[in-house]
Amino acid sequence: METVRNSNSLIMILRSGMAASLLVVLGMVIFLVQPSEAPAARPAGEYGKDWGDPKGEECVGCHRKHTPGLYAEWNKSNHGQRGVNCLDCHKAEGNDKDAFRHKGQLISVIVTPKDCARCHTKEFEEMDGSHHAKAAEILASLDNLLGEVVGGPAAVNAGCRQCHGSIIEIGEDGKPLPTTWPNTGIGRINPDGSKGSCTACHGRHRFSKAQARTPDTCGKCHVGPDHPQIEVYNESKHGVIYHAKVHEMNLKSDKWETGVDYSAAPTCATCHMSAGGGEKPTHNVGDRISWTLRPPISVKNNLVRLQDGNEFDVPEGTSLPKVGSKAKGSNVVEVLTWKERRLKMQNVCTACHTDSVILGHYNQFDKVVDLYNEKFAKPLAAIMGELKKSGTITKSPFDDKIEWIWWEIWHHEGRRARHGASMSGPDYTWWHGMYEVAKHTYFEFIPELKEIAGEAEAKKLLHTYLKPIPGHDWYFNGMSKEQINKVRQGFESRYGKGSMK
Ligand code: HEC
Ligand code: HEC
Ligand code: HEC
Ligand code: HEC
Ligand code: HEC
Ligand code: HEC
Ligand code: HEC
Ligand code: HEC
Repeated sequence: METVRNSNSLIMILRSGMAASLLVVLGMVIFLVQPSEAPAARPAGEYGKDWGDPKGEECVGCHRKHTPGLYAEWNKSNHGQRGVNCLDCHKAEGNDKDAFRHKGQLISVIVTPKDCARCHTKEFEEMDGSHHAKAAEILASLDNLLGEVVGGPAAVNAGCRQCHGSIIEIGEDGKPLPTTWPNTGIGRINPDGSKGSCTACHGRHRFSKAQARTPDTCGKCHVGPDHPQIEVYNESKHGVIYHAKVHEMNLKSDKWETGVDYSAAPTCATCHMSAGGGEKPTHNVGDRISWTLRPPISVKNNLVRLQDGNEFDVPEGTSLPKVGSKAKGSNVVEVLTWKERRLKMQNVCTACHTDSVILGHYNQFDKVVDLYNEKFAKPLAAIMGELKKSGTITKSPFDDKIEWIWWEIWHHEGRRARHGASMSGPDYTWWHGMYEVAKHTYFEFIPELKEIAGEAEAKKLLHTYLKPIPGHDWYFNGMSKEQINKVRQGFESRYGKGSMK
């Protein structure tokens, strides 16, 4: 049986006709299970004053019968146990677009980050400026064109938008339209104007932090051919050890400082969100990131925070506003350089590793990003630009075969290589990553280029953009005698003289 801690739940038990003597026993349990750990950040407000509206008890009583599963999850949650009831979250005001009358109360189905912010201001503010909150703003992207036009809107609704978030529309009856909801995409645009969805990570109606700390939570979205973070993690030593020792992870702990409250292995949340190595926990997953690994060509990003809660990335090498100056109609309150962002991540690592591993890891990671950028992405992007300029391909995307080849090179294969290297997934760095980039550059991109531009023009482009890069020597000049001899020697020392044909 669940530990019952608050009077509301006790009232429920009373209503359900349990003996009063049980209450005495439960009272003792309440006393015994008071948490003894150092307190974590507590929500604003207090029971009986800021939540626990007695009218909410009616919701509980009836929904216990009508939706017993929903009720049970709520009752087991910290909300249920601390007296935060249905009405505290679902309550609506008369002028809310999504308000409707239900069993005598004005409620809404949609519970937005702004609603949660009544009690959890810190988490709301941290998430609000982040890339997560902006994830539904995909209209201007190539991906979106691919989804809406090449695919079709139905696939965008049940596909893209279930990860990125829909724009929720409300019908005449105050209820969300089925075309736009159910949806708990990470950057959902809500009827009250707020962005994001807290349930994206905290499954309802338990709203547990333990569940949010598991890698599978993030893996709903961070998965697949173009961003296989969960696959990378699962094949990394970190992921392997997490799965082997999940019972040692202390996931339910109030305070969850890495190296202190658990030490077996880091999860996604450990590195990107939770406390460790002197870093405070954050609901902004961009704080500890230095590169962006998403675009065709990766850049290192500085972060600028504004007084109005907004923030934006500024690529290394472009001018960076100073604290106190004006930007985008507001004042700059904080500037985090890419180095500072990186240091935050590295601080977390220090709970379990020393500099040689940490800096060694970043060294290997940076070199893969540089290799991808310099050897493949920059020259291919330049050639694509030339093809557009000369009219060899049309201005509209995705109607030429070479556009698909290039798209997959950067958006799928090139990202996989970069993601694999960033989080120690060697199979993604090489076989699913750089191997595919190379294969498709030499044996799809270049042949298609010759096909559409003609041999002479293709040769000119290749000599301008690819040939000057030493990494492509082998392709233009053949492997050098030296390279072949080295391989031969290695082969023969292993398999015997004359073994390499
Ligand atoms: C007397 C029983 C009863 C009470 C009291 C009650 N509900 Fe419900 N509620 C239901 C039933 C049955 C449904 C499903 C049928 C429906 O849509 O009306 C429902 C549906 C809902 C829905 C989903 C509506 C939709 O269209 O998807 C929400 C949200 C909800 N209730 C919240 C609450 C809240 C919050 C309270 C307290 C203010 C509450 N309920 C009180 C019985 C009740
Ligand atoms: C901590 C805040 C919170 C509390 C407490 C809470 N809910 Fe919800 N509820 C949500 C959120 C968030 C959603 C998801 C709606 C959305 O997409 O915005 C939701 C969705 C729902 C839905 C529609 C989704 C479905 O799966 O059918 C119903 C019905 C509902 N809640 C009823 C209740 C009832 C009844 C209670 C009390 C026993 C309750 N809620 C307590 C936050 C809460
Ligand atoms: C399985 C969930 C999922 C689906 C489905 C999905 N995405 Fe994404 N998308 C993501 C994640 C996660 C990222 C971030 C990846 C990263 O940082 O490596 C992302 C990144 C993006 C970006 C880059 C954003 C930036 O700031 O650079 C765009 C644009 C985008 N997706 C659009 C789309 C469109 C359009 C569709 C459908 C045609 C789609 N996505 C389908 C999860 C998804
Ligand atoms: C990207 C996933 C994700 C999203 C989205 C998310 N959270 Fe969390 N949340 C987490 C993780 C992970 C933790 C545990 C952090 C830790 O280990 O201390 C957590 C912890 C919490 C806690 C407990 C804090 C404490 O110190 O005990 C609260 C409260 C919370 N989140 C509220 C919210 C609210 C409100 C939103 C929406 C504005 C939200 N979360 C959105 C992942 C998420
Ligand atoms: C009316 C106040 C109130 C609202 C609204 C509210 N919460 Fe909470 N929340 C609490 C309280 C109280 C706790 C218990 C804190 C404790 O354990 O001391 C809590 C705890 C949590 C936790 C930690 C749970 C755990 O596993 O320990 C998470 C996560 C969380 N809330 C998320 C949310 C989200 C998401 C929403 C909006 C959908 C929300 N809360 C709305 C008051 C609220
Ligand atoms: C519901 C889908 C979803 C879930 C769940 C989710 N993410 Fe994301 N995440 C996204 C999308 C989409 C983006 C890209 C947003 C953009 O740039 O527009 C993203 C971006 C990111 C970024 C890049 C941030 C930046 O500033 O460049 C990181 C890091 C990240 N997520 C980590 C996590 C972690 C860790 C978790 C789990 C605790 C998680 N995400 C859960 C969808 C999700
Ligand atoms: C051991 C720590 C660690 C773990 C565990 C981890 N990450 Fe990462 N993650 C990193 C590092 C380091 C980077 C690269 C940071 C940089 O650019 O400086 C990164 C990069 C990312 C990015 C790339 C953002 C971009 O720029 O495009 C996303 C998204 C992401 N991680 C999500 C996840 C998810 C989801 C999980 C779990 C499945 C996870 N991470 C597990 C450390 C970790
Ligand atoms: C909670 C502790 C913990 C944290 C935090 C952590 N790691 Fe690890 N890491 C481990 C464990 C355990 C191993 C496996 C050690 C082994 O058996 O080689 C490991 C292995 C590694 C390896 C492979 C070493 C090898 O010899 O193969 C690298 C690289 C690495 N971690 C980098 C990082 C980086 C970078 C960070 C921070 C972004 C980080 N780790 C954060 C615990 C942690």
